Amino acid sequence: MTLYARLRPYAFRLPAEMAHEASKGLLRVAGATRPSRAALERVYRYDHPALEIDLFDTTFPNPVGVAAGFDKDAEVMGGLAALGFGFVEVGTVTPGPQSGNRKPRLFRLAEDRALVNRMGFNGAGADAVAERLAAGRPEIPVGANVGRMNAAGEEEAIEDYRRVFARLSPYPDYFVVNVSCPNTPETFDESSPEHLERVFGTLQAENDADEPILVKIGPDATAEGIGELVEIAESHGIDGIVATNTASDREGFDLESTNRKEWGGLSGAPLEERSTRVVRTVASHTDLPVIGVGGVDSAESAYRKIRAGASLVELYTAFVYEGPTVAREINRGLVSLLHRDGFSSVEEAVGADL
Ligand SMILES: Cc1cc2nc3c(=O)[nH]c(=O)nc-3n(C[C@H](O)[C@H](O)[C@H](O)COP(=O)(O)O)c2cc1C
Repeated sequence: MTLYARLRPYAFRLPAEMAHEASKGLLRVAGATRPSRAALERVYRYDHPALEIDLFDTTFPNPVGVAAGFDKDAEVMGGLAALGFGFVEVGTVTPGPQSGNRKPRLFRLAEDRALVNRMGFNGAGADAVAERLAAGRPEIPVGANVGRMNAAGEEEAIEDYRRVFARLSPYPDYFVVNVSCPNTPETFDESSPEHLERVFGTLQAENDADEPILVKIGPDATAEGIGELVEIAESHGIDGIVATNTASDREGFDLESTNRKEWGGLSGAPLEERSTRVVRTVASHTDLPVIGVGGVDSAESAYRKIRAGASLVELYTAFVYEGPTVAREINRGLVSLLHRDGFSSVEEAVGADL
């Protein structure tokens, strides 16, 4: 039993958001100095040449990243790098600071190894994040997930995305436009083709430096909707798709925990199959790179997303349930799975099931 597995029952006595803040506090301290990062790296980092991936003009040391929402304000990137993650996606970053929804807004579904959240884009805003990124970047690639203020209508939303993008450039290695958050007020249809056309057009008009811009979609997208989105993304020179966000619709999930009744986005193990299906559908429509996210909690689940077409994977919920060894264990296991199946690298296994 890992040390984390022994400590977890105590951590789980705290309200979920408080436990999250406490773990970020530890990561902030542990990631603050070179010697403490080096000490963490010795325990948690697992390097292997088969895990390296070149994408978006940068090298990812391994394909296992931290999903958006964990480090919204770019506070613990160094600590996450020292825990062996291959990259971190900060955000969602909104143009100004925002407090998000009323607490409680994060719930554990322990029996289901899942979470429900309705955080509602709480964060310090683009200026604070830009200053942190400018002050120092971790040794791993950083993505920035771009969002809008909760009160924004359609016109303001487009301007919000543009402002955050302009403020954060050129610091991140890639950007993600988040048009799939299920727990911000629905003032308009964020996934309509007309809206997406305008968002992508506006961002690309601002994108003189040709920064990689990706779009993040939800797990409930239909094959037809995905086909349409991919077409729009390709016609605007979008560089990749992140699949998927959390699920707002509980239809088809067999959940046991009492917290299943809370409204918000469902993440974790129950989402794995659905998000992998979306990865596969996206990858079968396009050669654009896909970042697979949703229920990745083991080498096997990461490998399923890679074989379904994901070049990189991300996780959030498994960090809560598996603890700080999660990246190391997934990466170590991936090397064995690649070896078993005769692949010399992750890159070779991408889309093997298509
Ligand atoms: C507490 C929490 C907050 C999140 N916040 C964001 C966010 O701000 N932006 C975003 O794009 N996704 C956000 N997500 C979704 C994750 O990035 C990811 O898409 C989803 O949780 C599925 O991955 P998982 O099963 O590994 O958690 C959040 C998820 C959780 C659990």
